[in-house]
Amino acid sequence: MVSPRRLPLGELVAVLVSEHAKIVGGLARARDDILAGDPVGARKELTEVVCTFKQHIADEEGQILSLLLDAYGKEGSEDAVRVFQQHRPIYALLRAVDAFSQLPTEKLSTSGAELARLLDDHTRAEEERVFPRALEARRRAQASLDRGASTEAASGVGGADPCRKGGNRGSGRE
Ligand SMILES: [Fe+2]
Ligand SMILES: [Fe+2]
Repeated sequence: MVSPRRLPLGELVAVLVSEHAKIVGGLARARDDILAGDPVGARKELTEVVCTFKQHIADEEGQILSLLLDAYGKEGSEDAVRVFQQHRPIYALLRAVDAFSQLPTEKLSTSGAELARLLDDHTRAEEERVFPRALEARRRAQASLDRGASTEAASGVGGADPCRKGGNRGSGRE
């Protein structure tokens, strides 16, 4: 079980976006290694991609999705849920490519092409829709906290202090 990384949201999203490029780059290098007859090099690249992917989806599902669910509810998060449901088929294809890389066959190129297509759709959906929505939710929550703080500060100046009110009432009866 991989634990989510505790990073501020903006930083986390930047890391996730950079990992998309890292995953795609690692797969391209693995393909080159396979074509060059270097299964050891391919295995090393694929192991790295799988490790990056496991941490990556732990953060997307554990942090981005829970933030969206809190902000927009289940119905408002349907798009993100659908996009994140692609994690399982992507992972299965990664494992298939890893297994076939030891014995290159037609299945390797079919799985590799399918994986590349799915990853391209997936990362684009995250970068264009899911991540911006999460950042927007965080901005709104922060703005509402800021509004709350300034209202509190303003009302504090007027002296709406429940302790003083109680004290006033007490002295009125005497
Ligand atoms: Fe993802
Ligand atoms: Fe992602």
